[in-house]
Amino acid sequence: MTYLLGIDTSTTATKALLIDSAGRQVGASSSEYDLSTPKPLWAEQDPGLWWTATRTAIRQVLADSGVDPASVGGVGLTGQMHGLVLLDEAGEVLRPAILWNDQRSVVQCDEIRQRLGLEELVRITGNDAFPGFTAPKLLWVRDNEPEIYARVRQVLLPKDYVRFCLSGDYATDRAGAGGTLMLDLASRDWSSELLEALEIPREWLPPTHEGTETTGVVSAMAAEATGLAPGTPVFGGGGDQAAQAVGVGAVTSGVVALTLGTSGVVFASSEKPLTEPEGRMHAFPHAVPDTWHVMGVMLSAAGSLRWYRDVVASDVDYDALLGEAAEVEPGSEGVVFLPYLSGERTPHADPHARGAFVGLTLAHGRGHLTRAVLEGVAFGLKDNLALMAAVGLEDVGQVRISGGGARSPVWRQILADVLGVELVSVETSEGAALGAALLAGVGSGVWESVEKACGAAVQLGDITKPDADARKPYARIYQRFRECYPAMKPLFSSG
Ligand code: XUL
Repeated sequence: MTYLLGIDTSTTATKALLIDSAGRQVGASSSEYDLSTPKPLWAEQDPGLWWTATRTAIRQVLADSGVDPASVGGVGLTGQMHGLVLLDEAGEVLRPAILWNDQRSVVQCDEIRQRLGLEELVRITGNDAFPGFTAPKLLWVRDNEPEIYARVRQVLLPKDYVRFCLSGDYATDRAGAGGTLMLDLASRDWSSELLEALEIPREWLPPTHEGTETTGVVSAMAAEATGLAPGTPVFGGGGDQAAQAVGVGAVTSGVVALTLGTSGVVFASSEKPLTEPEGRMHAFPHAVPDTWHVMGVMLSAAGSLRWYRDVVASDVDYDALLGEAAEVEPGSEGVVFLPYLSGERTPHADPHARGAFVGLTLAHGRGHLTRAVLEGVAFGLKDNLALMAAVGLEDVGQVRISGGGARSPVWRQILADVLGVELVSVETSEGAALGAALLAGVGSGVWESVEKACGAAVQLGDITKPDADARKPYARIYQRFRECYPAMKPLFSSG
């Protein structure tokens, strides 16, 4: 039996997932770490934390499963996207990594748009400049920490720092590289044009690989540290969203992945690069070789519910709270919630956007507020699906839903009714790590294609169908939701 290991360097923990060559999970472990916010809207992590957690998680999963390290046929890597890791000549970390959810580089985003022009930027990279992306953060270091910038010799993404520790190679996958804003979307490699315009040396960036390609092998030193066998191949893998899409089987056109985690993501594959003219959808290479994807990211999805519960009902469990929401009619009797608690990326690329409850009266109780939160997130996701249709992906055959929020039947029904689509739940708690393991499986010849790997491993669960009666009022209420953001935008920016 051959085993495959997926490693997910997420924002909160490093997860290690071991599967067998039938696609069955044989072990999983996780080692947590913290995030530091030295200033409001900043988010940093010491890359050393990821490597320590990787060692712990791999050792743990090998010990718990009893799998012989020599039978691990490959390691696939995934992790939080967009983070900036800077190394010096000797491969030493120069400063804490600046993460995907850090908002400090608004000025540098403006500079990038000015240097290239938005149209050209979208033509090359497929994307507008978001503060979360890597290139603006690199320019922030140039502007604010010139002594560090002068010593930079290598720029890596979080998962690729783990790769460097595992195999000693500088390398990245193309799905993750898309999120740096330095990749040419069509050719799937670094854009010389863009790097020249931003004066970023190309030699700072690692070679790019498809998700199923080998980037190196586990070194003797890393074998000692993790318990893996030296020489175990390490594969490209993918950024967490692309790997998650593989983990739920969103690898062919028509299958959309909806992830209801802290953030909310709507993801669709395509045979060719597609872009939204204003760059409001993210457009990156997929982790499936020679395919692409578009994706909308809401920054606070299940994160909105978690915030709301912590503030309003920290002593009430989620089932009870959502049970109250289920008693309220669709539309929450006029209460609308705007889910922009961390600013927003899609469809409103606006770090100044804020959350709001609109339309409160004395008649409203907690159930109305809770339902409004669930509906507000669903409306935000509908905005994302609408943009997808605008780039030409209107044929949504199936939406595969995963993530913590997707466990609630009440929320799933609201989503099916608001989106007007059938939802298929995917039974996975570690979709991204599973996707990374599957990519390693294809790379090492266990499966012939990513599609076949998904066919073997992805477990589909409950189906939630839209309810015709509940759908009707949502058309009107969604319009009301749509009107709220433009009306409140001036207030958000002045606050
Ligand atoms: C995707 C994104 C997040 C991070 C964190 O664009 O920013 O999914 O990768 O997990």
